[in-house]
Amino acid sequence: MIASPALLALREATASAHETLETEARIEARLADPTTRAATVADFYRFHAGLEPASHPQVAELSRAVGAGFDPRSRANGIAADLAALGEPTPPSALAPQLRSVGEALGWVYVAEGSMLGGRIIRRRLTAEGRGLEGLAFLDPYGEETGERWRALIALLDLACTSGRASVDQIVQGGVDGFAFAQRTLQPQTQDAAA
Ligand code: HEM
Repeated sequence: MIASPALLALREATASAHETLETEARIEARLADPTTRAATVADFYRFHAGLEPASHPQVAELSRAVGAGFDPRSRANGIAADLAALGEPTPPSALAPQLRSVGEALGWVYVAEGSMLGGRIIRRRLTAEGRGLEGLAFLDPYGEETGERWRALIALLDLACTSGRASVDQIVQGGVDGFAFAQRTLQPQTQDAAA
């Protein structure tokens, strides 16, 4: 199978941002610790609830227009249920900028969808450490559908480019900006970073 040019470009442009998030935002450690779990889940709510209205409508319309099988689905509602299970109120969304093109919106959706790949791994590792998964259902929103959804998103990236509705450059810009938004919303504030 020939790898998707848009996916390859996204990976190359965002690999270092992903690594920074994985290491500096201490997401797994903060989810593992019962004293920081709820606040960390709230950060994920702010991220998804901010990103979804900025990107989903454009991506849903694109998917219909090019006949792709990818439908953006909200993660924010599921995270609100996780927060309720943890006894934490739903916080306000983080404010995402207005996106200038459907290509950028696709890049943002790539960041949000990709986070489920790491999320499943985090759940597996926490289980292996014998930790409870209360409030962490959002880390694996699609279960057995995960692979199928990921492939549908990649197919949409390619159809968006071959149909001329988006360019690889716009998609990459969205991916870079989406990771910067994730960094802003998921990075612990200085006072918790010392904990
Ligand atoms: C400690 C936290 C995280 C860990 C350990 C982690 C780990 C991983 C791993 C192992 C993969 C590859 C999965 C596979 O190939 O099946 C992956 C993919 C990905 N993750 Fe993360 N991740 C974390 C957090 C995040 C966050 C917070 C975001 C975005 C908000 C994110 C975005 C992505 C994206 C976009 C991909 C897809 C890369 C690609 O294949 O093109 N990750 N992550």
